[in-house]
Amino acid sequence: MTIISNKINAMKILVTGGAGYIGSHSCIELAASNHQVVILDNLCNASPFSVARAEKLAETRFRLLQVDLRDAQAVHQVFERERFDAVVHFAALKAVGESVEQPLDYFDNNVGGSIHLLQAMRAHGCKRLVFSSSATVYGNPDSVPVNEDAPLRVTNPYGRTKLMMEDMIRDTCAADPEFSAILLRYFNPVGAHPSGEIGEDPRGIPNNLMPYICQVAVGRRECLSVFGGDWPTVDGTGVRDYIHVVDLARAHAHAINTLEHAHHAATTLNLGTGQGVSVLQLVRAFEQASGRKVPYEIVARRAGDVAEVYADPQRARDVIGWQATRGVDAMCADAWRWQSQNPDGYISA
Ligand code: NAD
Ligand code: UD1
Repeated sequence: MTIISNKINAMKILVTGGAGYIGSHSCIELAASNHQVVILDNLCNASPFSVARAEKLAETRFRLLQVDLRDAQAVHQVFERERFDAVVHFAALKAVGESVEQPLDYFDNNVGGSIHLLQAMRAHGCKRLVFSSSATVYGNPDSVPVNEDAPLRVTNPYGRTKLMMEDMIRDTCAADPEFSAILLRYFNPVGAHPSGEIGEDPRGIPNNLMPYICQVAVGRRECLSVFGGDWPTVDGTGVRDYIHVVDLARAHAHAINTLEHAHHAATTLNLGTGQGVSVLQLVRAFEQASGRKVPYEIVARRAGDVAEVYADPQRARDVIGWQATRGVDAMCADAWRWQSQNPDGYISA
């Protein structure tokens, strides 16, 4: 068990993708740990309103640099202009289906962008990194709960970009013993800030379950399609480890604070609750929290889906002193507050 000091010095942190869903919540938690946050985001999947609202909630300023990580020169200039003590790297494209159709865009943006970031960090002596990875790297696991030593089997281009970025960071740590990194593998982030001011705002038809449920409940879509009712699970529907985005955001502050005191040569940590929840269990919890009906129909399984995935989150507890505290009821209540206050997302801000 790593002993984590209570004394945390304020750091200046570059947050790539900080205008996005998880990034905006994480900026608030980093600020709550007294860190100074600078956001780098090209806004390809985010609204500047998210930053303005996160600043209001955090009662501090986050400078937003509208920069594209694919622009190596612009990234170098950011590091030339100011000194960062650490980077939290969220910026990436994340839609699995789109990555199958446009794989090169995913490698260019996610892998290419990360190369530029790591090069700029190396050139300017910034040696602490927290990286957003995904449970997608486990593919269809042999058994659950999944721990960090489970075999890595990516099944789509998005997942391959995550694994390549993890490998790049592991190799960077191997080449430079002073470079310290924590790789966070998220399970299924859902929910919103309890204020209802910031939340998930997908463009187009949501790919993921919780935003789809929210849009049905608010009347933007008619009916949820449940992908498969014959999985070998508690009620035949897929089981996942949903984690409240504020818990997830807190984990980034824990990881940054840990890197201040301890060296980590690419330590990977699962971020989940350790609890599996089925599609229908989530639908019922959402109906309870929102007081709205969520009509659904059971349809064919989605290609590439798996029956049951949930985390063994013990290592995160040991290494960064973090564990999830919010349950499914809070996830649904907060997701609904965000959706009902912002039925069309940030467009109505
Ligand atoms: P998001 O799309 O809301 O946030 C990503 C942000 O990165 C956006 O604001 C986007 O504008 C920015 N961005 C993308 N490419 C960029 C580039 N080239 N230069 C600068 N900015 C760029 O997504 P999110 O849900 O907040 O996810 C954040 C990270 O977490 C991603 O790396 C994602 O792969 C990972 N992740 C997300 C989930 C999930 O379910 N949401 C699960 C596992 C891992
Ligand atoms: C998705 C991503 C994966 C990412 C993970 C964590 C896809 C294909 N995969 O997987 O890369 O790591 O999130 O964020 O996007 N479901 C329905 N109806 C819907 C949507 C989903 O029944 O309209 C079901 C799915 O079959 C699954 C569960 O709900 O059983 C969760 O689906 P989703 O939210 O897409 O997450 P993952 O499948 O875990």
